[in-house]
Amino acid sequence: MNKITTTKLNKMKQAGEKFTCLTAYDASFALAQENAGVEVILVGDSLGMVVKGQASTLSVSMDEMVYHTANVSRVCQKSLIMSDLPFAADITIEQAYSNSARLISEGGAHMVKIEGGATMLETVQFLAQRGIAVCSHLGLLPQSVHKMGGYRIQGRTADEAQQILKDATALEQAGTDLLLLECVPAELATRITHSVTIPVIGIGAGAECDAQVLVSYDMLGLTQGNPASFVKNFLQETNSIQDAFKAYVEQVKNGQFPSTEHTFE
Ligand code: KIV
Repeated sequence: MNKITTTKLNKMKQAGEKFTCLTAYDASFALAQENAGVEVILVGDSLGMVVKGQASTLSVSMDEMVYHTANVSRVCQKSLIMSDLPFAADITIEQAYSNSARLISEGGAHMVKIEGGATMLETVQFLAQRGIAVCSHLGLLPQSVHKMGGYRIQGRTADEAQQILKDATALEQAGTDLLLLECVPAELATRITHSVTIPVIGIGAGAECDAQVLVSYDMLGLTQGNPASFVKNFLQETNSIQDAFKAYVEQVKNGQFPSTEHTFE
């Protein structure tokens, strides 16, 4: 069984082959996703909302992240496991390092995800130089929901778009391995994807990104209330959760998802 590594993901980008990412917080979902061919499994701090029932990700602790990451990594043999550094776990560089080390050594993560651009450059560089694989999360930053004034699309003005593009290239230079773009116009996501050599994962960022991610509960239609416009319910057109994961993988790879209805102009 060939394990998914950052080298493999880079090769997929170079070959123009799309890859997939879904969130999982437990062993059963993680194994079903790995069996469906999901390359990257994200233990997201979205667990604060979909598992704990909170209104945001802000209450998620390091102990909770380690617990859920370990539940996922215990059963996965192939997928790359990425785990979120939760809110306030990376205030100082030293804190970011010791909390990343916990996600890796206690949780079994292969990569950590950090929200933020310019402000996180030194942290990303410090981690990368010490051998920690990092994914940098740009665009809509759920941990900054109150500062951003809600869960709103980012990068619509020329200044905002310029800043996100600048952050993306600076983070690549600082040594980040992946970028994750959340809720930005497709045109900006396309520019960023073509401006960096590292793979770019999108959520609400259009079809040109190298990969797509969705919160698994959203793409199974389990999330309460109106789903975000970039979400597609894959369970609706399939007979089982396993088939819904397979349909997601197939439709990302053949370019059917996301379509224009799941994309911001
Ligand atoms: O925590 C999470 O699930 C995420 C996704 C929204 C990308 O960061």
